[in-house]
Amino acid sequence: MLNYIINPDCTSALKSYELPKNLGFGEHFAPLMLSAKFKDNAWSSFLVEPFGPISLLPSAKVFHYAQEIFEGLKVYKSPSKEALLFRPEQNAKRFKKSAERLAMPILDEKDFLFSLNLMASLLSDVIPETSGQSLYLRPIMIATDTIMSVRPSTEFLYMVLASPCGDYFSSQDIGVLIERDEIRASSKGLGSSKTGANYAASLHSYKKAKDLGLSQTLWLDSKENKYIEELSGMNFFALINNELHTPLLNDSILEGVTREAIIKISRHLKIKVVERKMDIGELIEQIKDQRCSEAFACGTAAVITPLAFLSDLDEKGRRIDYEFRDKNCPLGSKIKDYLLALQEGRISDEFGWVSKVSL
Ligand code: COI
Repeated sequence: MLNYIINPDCTSALKSYELPKNLGFGEHFAPLMLSAKFKDNAWSSFLVEPFGPISLLPSAKVFHYAQEIFEGLKVYKSPSKEALLFRPEQNAKRFKKSAERLAMPILDEKDFLFSLNLMASLLSDVIPETSGQSLYLRPIMIATDTIMSVRPSTEFLYMVLASPCGDYFSSQDIGVLIERDEIRASSKGLGSSKTGANYAASLHSYKKAKDLGLSQTLWLDSKENKYIEELSGMNFFALINNELHTPLLNDSILEGVTREAIIKISRHLKIKVVERKMDIGELIEQIKDQRCSEAFACGTAAVITPLAFLSDLDEKGRRIDYEFRDKNCPLGSKIKDYLLALQEGRISDEFGWVSKVSL
């Protein structure tokens, strides 16, 4: 296990910190951050210090070749004021898998979990207590050697940032562009790794969607351009004939921790879940004749977010909207209530998913 050092300035940084009133997502940062350096084939101790700028040379590989991975998970406050983590082992496994794919060193899963518990425990007073709010932890690893040849870096920086957060989306009425001209990820590429490159690939479509008055992108597969993959950086579910359908995982879809929890919770609530290849043409027909009544996006940050409509473009680039019958998403809301109650320690944890923060 890696050791840790806590900079003495952390005490005053914590003391003077006030939780902002309006949180949003990723707008405010907790007063502490954690880091470890990888050099000469070994990790340093963890260092916890006040949140602030870091110093890197402009030739650091991450700026040129995007050798970078990250994770996201939330710490909740239970009614008895305990700090709770939701399935952090899943994030540890995925971080390791992403590191392998991006030719980065492995941070032992135990060390990864310790770094999260250390941050969550030091920041216990910064975890919002209002239901639906939490402390979002963002572990990252970036390539820091300063040689500009294209090869894996020999030096890396691991960090954990923390951000008190509320809802990811501020608007209720989410319109989604069916993206037929660009792809997010291809088979055998980076799609199932949590790396910044996938999000960079999505930004042009995000801009296009915004310009059309929409807010998100529905990604299709790279080979046939007809099977649904992800919804922006989230996973996608649709209620069809009272069954919950979601794209079957493949190597260009990120395996969402929330996605898997939704599948298991739904089955527990006796809702039939079908994981399959979802053809966009078929889904449009099902929305039109109302066999598909609702749809939602899911992710750690977004939890479960109802979708109002999907949108295609005609040959003149004008929008054709397909509205979901139940835009308020009754089934998605029911699953969300259950998931949040579980994460916030308000109901008994039938699945063994919630762990108390401990060192
Ligand atoms: C989510 O976790 O819900 C996301 O959309 C991921 C994003 C914040 C990186």
